[in-house]
Amino acid sequence: MRLFLDTANIDDIRRGAAMGLVDGVTTNPTLVAKEGVEYRDRVLEICEAVNGPISAECISTTADALVEEARRIASWHPNVIVKVALTEQGLQAIRRLSAEGITINTTLVFSANQALLAAKAGAAYVSPFVGRLDDAGEDGMQVVRESVQIFETYHLPTQVLAASIRSARSVTQAALAGSHVATVPPNIFFQMIQHPLTDVGIERFLADAAKYTPV
Ligand code: G3P
Repeated sequence: MRLFLDTANIDDIRRGAAMGLVDGVTTNPTLVAKEGVEYRDRVLEICEAVNGPISAECISTTADALVEEARRIASWHPNVIVKVALTEQGLQAIRRLSAEGITINTTLVFSANQALLAAKAGAAYVSPFVGRLDDAGEDGMQVVRESVQIFETYHLPTQVLAASIRSARSVTQAALAGSHVATVPPNIFFQMIQHPLTDVGIERFLADAAKYTPV
């Protein structure tokens, strides 16, 4: 499973990229607004830091406007992929943009039926929002599982990108569900490295290693 960072914070992105384990980055208007920077400038900085798909989101609401906006965003950098929200107008735009060869990540996906429609429209990725579904008392990971199964059954090339991840456990669950990608907030990404028994083990090895001459 590929791992993307779900953030617009450039320091966290550079820290993750230094490990060589960040396969891409997803941003959205909320994440960029938090940073107090211009959207295009930040996306270009991210493209310098990570060599992989970098999602930038459209905010238009009609198909024509979405197509225009997505073309502009896609022209920023060859690695930029365009996020379009799952609406009727969005699906029309996804169909047109995908036919032009623009790579689309369908965002705000909350059901397997929405994922199927986005896949049929030609989206490269669908992003089920796992955490927001869980917040609403539903089973977010079920949408990931069902979408993966549908795409496999019908040999659809669309990839499932598990989004709105709120815990390290959800990353494991996304991997077990067969999600092609999980986009993970930096705090959870770095938490995945940690286990208290690893720390205890290192302390014990270091203490014992002090009992002989270092190699
Ligand atoms: O990038 C979109 C998604 O991951 C947002 O997550 O935490 O705002 O539900 P969240």
